[in-house]
Amino acid sequence: MPTDIEEPSLSSTSCPAMTSSAPGLLVSIRSAPGPAIQMFFDGELITAHAHDTILAALLRQGARTGCNEFDNAPRAGFCLMGSCQECSIWDAVGRRLRACMEAVREGLELRSTPCQNVQDNA
Ligand code: FES
Repeated sequence: MPTDIEEPSLSSTSCPAMTSSAPGLLVSIRSAPGPAIQMFFDGELITAHAHDTILAALLRQGARTGCNEFDNAPRAGFCLMGSCQECSIWDAVGRRLRACMEAVREGLELRSTPCQNVQDNA
């Protein structure tokens, strides 16, 4: 039976790499941010401020937390309150985290994609 509905294209574009030169999507209004904290996202050094959420830290320095599994478009969170899962990231042992609900910590190692032994704790 013929249909006019077009099938979605999977992975038609590549997800852009997060670079420190990319413009940030978030600007803090705090006049005195907390002490600087260093963490890693996909191997890249990220400087955050104490008391920030991971999502705030990532969006201040770049434009994404990962890529959409259907079209590879950049993801950057949506609800900012733990409901939508659009900010999912993974820690070094494979636990899925909601970046908008987790505080930054010194030395965190985070990934935009799951590693092989994923634990779903979000
Ligand atoms: S932005 Fe929606 S769950 Fe984090």
